[in-house]
Amino acid sequence: MKNIRNFCIIAHIDHGKSTLADRLLQETKTVTEREMQEQLLDDMDLERERGITIKSHAIQMNYDFNGETYKLNLIDTPGHVDFSYEVSRSIAACEGALLIVDATQGIQAQTISNLYLALEHDLEIIPVLNKMDLPSAMPEEVADQIVDLIGCEYEDILKASGKTGEGVLDVLNAIIKRVPAPEGDPSEPLQAMIFDSVFNPYRGIEAYFRVYNGELKKGDKVKFVNTGKQYDADEIGVLKLKPEAKDKISAGDVGYIISGIKVAKEVKVGDTITHVDRPTNKIVKGFEDVKPMVFAGIYPVNTDEYEELRESLEKLQLNDASLTFEPESSAALGFGFRCGFLGMLHMEIIQERLEREFDMTVITTVPNVSYMAHLKSGEEQAITNPSDFPDPADIDYIEEPFISAQIITKADFVGQVMNLCIEKRGIMKNQTYLTQDRVEIIFELPLAEIVFDFYDRLKTVSKGYASFDYYPIGLHASNLVKLDILLNGDQVDALSALIHKDNAFTLGKKICAKLRELIPRQQFEIAIQAAVGSKIIARETVRALRKDVTAKCYGGDISRKRKLLEKQKKGKKKMRQVGNVEVPQSAFMAVLQLD
Ligand code: GTP
Repeated sequence: MKNIRNFCIIAHIDHGKSTLADRLLQETKTVTEREMQEQLLDDMDLERERGITIKSHAIQMNYDFNGETYKLNLIDTPGHVDFSYEVSRSIAACEGALLIVDATQGIQAQTISNLYLALEHDLEIIPVLNKMDLPSAMPEEVADQIVDLIGCEYEDILKASGKTGEGVLDVLNAIIKRVPAPEGDPSEPLQAMIFDSVFNPYRGIEAYFRVYNGELKKGDKVKFVNTGKQYDADEIGVLKLKPEAKDKISAGDVGYIISGIKVAKEVKVGDTITHVDRPTNKIVKGFEDVKPMVFAGIYPVNTDEYEELRESLEKLQLNDASLTFEPESSAALGFGFRCGFLGMLHMEIIQERLEREFDMTVITTVPNVSYMAHLKSGEEQAITNPSDFPDPADIDYIEEPFISAQIITKADFVGQVMNLCIEKRGIMKNQTYLTQDRVEIIFELPLAEIVFDFYDRLKTVSKGYASFDYYPIGLHASNLVKLDILLNGDQVDALSALIHKDNAFTLGKKICAKLRELIPRQQFEIAIQAAVGSKIIARETVRALRKDVTAKCYGGDISRKRKLLEKQKKGKKKMRQVGNVEVPQSAFMAVLQLD
């Protein structure tokens, strides 16, 4: 055990975690030059294309230091807020953390929030200034920030570049010297914590765990404490570039287990694995289910693909336990599913995976958060879908989820950032100057206002010099109404949205104007109206189309005509017939595209 080091890499998004991890793998010869490709651990196509880490990854390296061989278990963590629950689990499996800070950017919101998570778990922090190869690096300034933040010595801060490989050996040596070896007793009952899982279509779920006490042997009968399910440890092993089967994994070490689990839901990150015969009474603390934050309807464009969509969602869920869905129906869109996501990025990823991996063409409706209606009858009703909004006459009050947001920006932009937060119904809680030029602002905001375009807006008003992180703080009473949209007099349920009463009038007007842009002209006039209850608050008209689209192909050229029709057909793929009006996918998201 004294030659094991378990560590993770934490950082703000894009500060270079994955790239530095690549260099560590190369330096320890865990991968050969031939196997090496950029951001090796981000193995999903989508992760590669978007250049982001979605899932945590774990990998074991061997490293010789002072004549001894050390086993280094590295756990790479995702940076985006939508996936931050993964970070906390990964951190719990380690004794040390490399805190990567981009030397050109300095400390950002997630640097701080991830650092706090690491400190909560008593991890040894090794600060690393990364991207030192860039001329715009400001090592002194950023080192000052780090010393202020964690109270370390200047000499403790390493300098590195994931790009050139500078300083990578120092990082490895510091891991051996500064991260404590794991403690634990191999003779005690088995106590292991699951920190991640991946889906393998051939072998089922591989769960990754860290053993705190005891030993897990191949073939053992094990139990997952929180789900109560029992399994045989069919295969156990360590995570090299590829899984490497072993007969035994002991206290202090990190490994994987394959036990014929087919459903991702059965493997809960944070759950404890123990033996059926000699269970541990030490359950790893902090177990929590991941709760979806954003909900939206997903409908097949072709109504007869409903069953196919269900199967696709089921398969995706095997792979991504944080996706939830249940059937719903809409008068406008027919049968579909109300899905729950961790955030907007997660929603985009699910939609994209449905299209790429399952070849589904889907319509996604306006996303919303989950509200709680307290009825006069004393009943409570959770609302994840605008069409479940109770009759206003029956409502006592409604609550909506709030978050505490931490924003770090330059002093020059404080005014604009505050205006944005206030516009989004935020309440300022605190403002601290971290340095002369860097300010931390804490706001409480409704989740509904930040899940959509807040981050983009924040980047715009701060010219990119603001970083943002948040965590939920519970429900607060709020004055909400349901805004309905009518097309030619018919209410389209899939276009309804729940919004704050004070915004209803302006939003109603903006949505109608946006829909007028998005709904193509058709053979007849289309009236677009916004209503709250029976009161119409805005109206726009899409004028009728006069000319035949093919008319401009002056008769003769049949192939051009066909091309044009083909093109139209393709464009139509993402259209849904609602009553007699053709509505494009973009219209269902109109609320999100308002200026
Ligand atoms: P997430 O996984 O999305 O949280 O990001 P990350 O922190 O893993 O960052 P990643 O390694 O993907 O790097 C972000 C960008 O910075 C990429 O374009 C890298 O090529 C670049 N980058 C990373 N390290 C260095 C470095 O040391 N020098 C320079 N010049 N660029 C770097």
